[in-house]
Amino acid sequence: MNPTRVRRAARISGGIIALCTAILAVDWAVATYREPRDESIVKHLQEEVREDPEFAPKLEAENDRITAARLGRRQRGQAIAWILLAAAALFLTAVNHLRAARGLRFVDLDTLKAPPAAQRRKRMKPATNGASAGASTEAGFDTRFVDELVALHGRAKEAAIPILQAIQTHYRHLPDEALRRVCDLTDITPAEISGTSTFYGQFRRSPVGKHIVRVCHGTACHVAGARQISDELRRHLQIPEGADTDPKRLFTLEEVACLGCCSLAPVLMVDEHTAGRLTPSTAPSALEDLEQREPA
Ligand code: FES
Repeated sequence: MNPTRVRRAARISGGIIALCTAILAVDWAVATYREPRDESIVKHLQEEVREDPEFAPKLEAENDRITAARLGRRQRGQAIAWILLAAAALFLTAVNHLRAARGLRFVDLDTLKAPPAAQRRKRMKPATNGASAGASTEAGFDTRFVDELVALHGRAKEAAIPILQAIQTHYRHLPDEALRRVCDLTDITPAEISGTSTFYGQFRRSPVGKHIVRVCHGTACHVAGARQISDELRRHLQIPEGADTDPKRLFTLEEVACLGCCSLAPVLMVDEHTAGRLTPSTAPSALEDLEQREPA
């Protein structure tokens, strides 16, 4: 490929990356500035509506404006993220190409692919707890998955995050047996595993329920009573103090930021389905269908 064109592609994609990053930063700054302001406006209007119902249309209009602004920001953010991804891929490819032309290699894409199984087996460190590689533990835990991950990502401490991410994706939480196996096979210590898994919010140490219930605690929902909705759902599902999943492991309750439909506040999502304008007494009905469909 013509090096002048490649250089131009690198410059253009670099410019796009800088522009997208600037737009995202400005959006974030605007959102940070407006959130508390919007919250106090809505709160004030709600008080006025309580005294004089004639203010209701004004409150509704304000809620619609806030929803439209947030939706706009969210959609813009998503579009920019895709553009950023494409520009970054183009930039890396162009830089790689230029460096390859000079005999250097910036990112060798082949190294990102999984090594062949035979090679992976060769790199695998033997188990130190007496169990043979690829066997099941006494508790019935199949160690092969973790063994493969270690063979793929290596035994160094830096492999902790990709290994934990893969375990989390596979089991939807980090089972103790899997973590013990990681410690057996790698240089990663139990303290490092524990530190990493508690520091990053994406990791769970306990099993997740079959359905995820996300209760919105964004500004509009918070003002409209999201706390009471969460409390009522915890009571209805009999979720113990300090836990987030019911004893039957059917529902996991999460408190999340704005779901993008503030005019329906307070809002929750069960898996992909949204329910709005909830009250503590109607919120459990959003789960009832699912509860009834599950075998006792
Ligand atoms: S605050 Fe926007 S949907 Fe709850």
